[in-house]
Order: sequence, then C-alpha cells, then structure tokens
Amino acid sequence: TYVVTENCIKCKYMDCVEVCPVDCFYVGENMLVIHPDECIDCGVCEPECPAEAIVPDSDDKATAWLELNRAYAAQWPNITRKGEPPADADEWKDKPGKKELFSP
Ligand code: SF4
Ligand code: F3S
Repeated sequence: TYVVTENCIKCKYMDCVEVCPVDCFYVGENMLVIHPDECIDCGVCEPECPAEAIVPDSDDKATAWLELNRAYAAQWPNITRKGEPPADADEWKDKPGKKELFSP
C-alpha cells in the first residue's frame, strides 16, 4: 500500500484523489489518508502530490503513519474530487514537525 505522511498536514492539495483508480482516499480536517486494504499499489498518486506526502509502505517514512492511515480511513468520508486547498497551503509545504498539528 501507499501511505499519506506528515507532509500532507495543512497542505491538503488533493491532487492525489483525482488520479486514484480505486478511490481509496479519505478526508479529515487537515490531511488525507489512504485505506491500506483498498489501495492497489499502482503508485500513480505518489508523483502527483506537490508536498511529496505519499510514500510506499516500504519507505522508512511510512512506518509511523501506516496505522494512522488505516484507523482514519475507517472513520473519515471518502473523497474523489479535488476541492479548494487551504489558503495557506504553500506556507506549510516542506515545514517539519507538523505531526503535532494533526487534527482528526
Ligand atoms: Fe490509489 Fe494507486 Fe495511490 Fe493506492 S497507489 S492510493 S491505488 S493512486
Ligand atoms: Fe495531501 Fe498531497 Fe494529497 S498534500 S491531499 S497527499 S496531494
């Protein structure tokens, strides 16, 4: 599976949802997650994310986020269309330490 990581927080560009062939993105207040059991590992979303937030589960960065993706994919609504990203998305891009800002 592919995993959405910290870089998505407060960026939430949503380019990813437009390309997913199985519509397995779920949306929270300030980030998206991928349902690990629905993702078919196609990889097309990875290069679409301007924040480089999406990584394969083989990536070291995925480890801390896989179970969060699983947990919230079961609770949050599905998203298949790109909406308006936060007005300050570009200011949060590439900022470290955003995990504390995660909002369920
Ligand atoms: Fe969807 Fe493919 Fe990305 Fe998985 S890897 S979330 S199936 S676009
Ligand atoms: Fe997040 Fe990137 Fe998608 S910032 S919403 S994973 S395009």
